Amino acid sequence: MKRMMMAMAVATALCWTASATAGDPAAGEAIYNENCSDCHEPDDFSGESAADISVWIVEAKDSKHHKGKVDIAVLSEEDVANVAAFYAQ
Ligand code: HEC
Repeated sequence: MKRMMMAMAVATALCWTASATAGDPAAGEAIYNENCSDCHEPDDFSGESAADISVWIVEAKDSKHHKGKVDIAVLSEEDVANVAAFYAQ
């Protein structure tokens, strides 16, 4: 019984991780239109994976290209995943 509970806990954790990183492209498009579209094209990152793009967005929070122009740091983890999903389309 204990083992069964463990298996369920692990399965739940895996599901949660998958949904947290998958991202919602439609929600991402709204964020893109509001915050990124002045300077970026939707296909700036075409052909790249959402996972890679997420990492770049996080890295770009401190980029000199963004400092004082757009505050990417306000994007939540979920926002980043959504924008990445939109870019990866
Ligand atoms: C004021 C203009 C501007 C806005 C607004 C802007 N960016 Fe950028 N961004 C740039 C410039 C300029 C670069 C560097 C040039 C390049 O790599 O194309 C850059 C680079 C990046 C990079 C790094 C690309 C690489 O090659 O590593 C990412 C990721 C990125 N931006 C994401 C975003 C996201 C997400 C948003 C919206 C939340 C955003 N940017 C909004 C101007 C902007």
